[in-house]
Amino acid sequence: MSERIIIFDTTLRDGEQSPGASMNTEEKIQIALALERLGVDVMEVGFAASSPGDFEAINKIAQIIKNSSVCSLARCVENDIIQAGKALEPAAKKRIHTFIATSPIHMEYKLKKTPAEVLATAVKNVKLAKSLCEDVEFSCEDALRSDINFLKEMADAVYEAGARTFNIPDTVGYRLPDEIYKVFKEISDYTKGRLIVSAHNHNDLGLATANTLAAIKGGARQIEVTLNGLGERAGNAALEEVVMALKVRADELGEFYTTINHKEIYPSSRLLSNIIGVNPQPNKAIVGKNAFSHESGIHQDGVLKHPETYEIMKASDIGLVQDNLVLGKHSGRAAFNDKLKALGFSLEAEELNRAFAEFKDLCDKKKEVFDDDLIAIVAADKIKIEEKFKLINLQVSDCSSALATAAVTMECDGETIREAAIGDGVIDAVFKVIDRASKVNGSLLDYKVDAVSKGKDALAQVSVKVSFEGQRAIIGHGLDLDTMKASAKAYLGALNSYISMNK
Ligand code: KIV
Ligand code: ZN
Repeated sequence: MSERIIIFDTTLRDGEQSPGASMNTEEKIQIALALERLGVDVMEVGFAASSPGDFEAINKIAQIIKNSSVCSLARCVENDIIQAGKALEPAAKKRIHTFIATSPIHMEYKLKKTPAEVLATAVKNVKLAKSLCEDVEFSCEDALRSDINFLKEMADAVYEAGARTFNIPDTVGYRLPDEIYKVFKEISDYTKGRLIVSAHNHNDLGLATANTLAAIKGGARQIEVTLNGLGERAGNAALEEVVMALKVRADELGEFYTTINHKEIYPSSRLLSNIIGVNPQPNKAIVGKNAFSHESGIHQDGVLKHPETYEIMKASDIGLVQDNLVLGKHSGRAAFNDKLKALGFSLEAEELNRAFAEFKDLCDKKKEVFDDDLIAIVAADKIKIEEKFKLINLQVSDCSSALATAAVTMECDGETIREAAIGDGVIDAVFKVIDRASKVNGSLLDYKVDAVSKGKDALAQVSVKVSFEGQRAIIGHGLDLDTMKASAKAYLGALNSYISMNK
């Protein structure tokens, strides 16, 4: 009989800990909605006690999400658990995930506690979590460098205290698949009928997916994954890789099922890339740009004769509509809406109006509009936050011998502001003029520009990382046919985020 694998997604918690992947509340809500469409069982959406921003995002997501369980991480610390419980109050389904380290190195040097103290702390805090939330998960941090008999003792103790999911993370991505199998087999046999054993693998040796599959073979029935494999350091096991391996290799792995709607994999992955401004590497399995393209003549010939000569799955299985030319300037709203639905987006009337207006505008400026252009337009609109400062016009001039200049017209609370500035290069001039017009000083920490689709007239997608007034870095994105305007929009996006976070 086919057995269920619970999908616990941690894109918005462990994934967000990845350098350059921090998101504002609106962006997190859009990812949470995508994860709900994707069908994840549990979404871990932050660490409530870590900052007011995390608390707010968890609380808002808890109000919106109905079909997946919403989860907050908490250390085995009273205040962490209380904050998690409070943030999750409005959730239809909720889980508190609490953890403490169990490896000798962590207990001795980080926690400075004996194993007995660690065990007592875990029990006390699982009990507290249970009093606030029926569904409690407990993790032994660095479990895969911990003593297996201590893990068993922990499992017994936290089960008695009320936890029903027991997570065994490979926190530092150290183990090999055979070793993972053995640990999961032993713990799963030991806890059978009491605890759901969960796998959480990091990818430091590039083994996170293989290790997650080995854990399932060993008895794990929950897996902790992220979209695009985002996560601390080298990332976490990628949801799309594990889920597709389970589907494509059911013959070897066994008849497991998940509640994942496979056709939502690609749209969700793209939405995430658009939001954080980082595409998966081109050769990334399942969702990389080259994952379904065949370059060599021999392969192309084979695929034309019989797709299965070189394809073990179809692009359409993950909701990827191959890079095709889409609607043109004469297309109507209904066809436009159908196309967006095919790409995995379902828009409210207002959102559809805005996206359609953007699309028509783009058709006037660009010869060919591709699926990727549409995805970028919709994603940019979805993550738009309240615009305190709005770009009305931008002019730049760059005489290579002299200083570059930028002149901007912006709107702020109904008032028009005009300013000009010079800089070391055009981009510098653009950012300086915005600083001057807004009277908020930013320092640029990172700048990246990508072409959204193909052709010389491709839309430019700019991502910036800026620290305003010495505060923590904020990411902004801008989309335009003109790279300078896209840069200005990205910088203003970061500025508007900063202002809305500090209201
Ligand atoms: O990698 C890890 O150990 C974690 C825990 C907090 C579950 O992310
Ligand atoms: Zn982790």
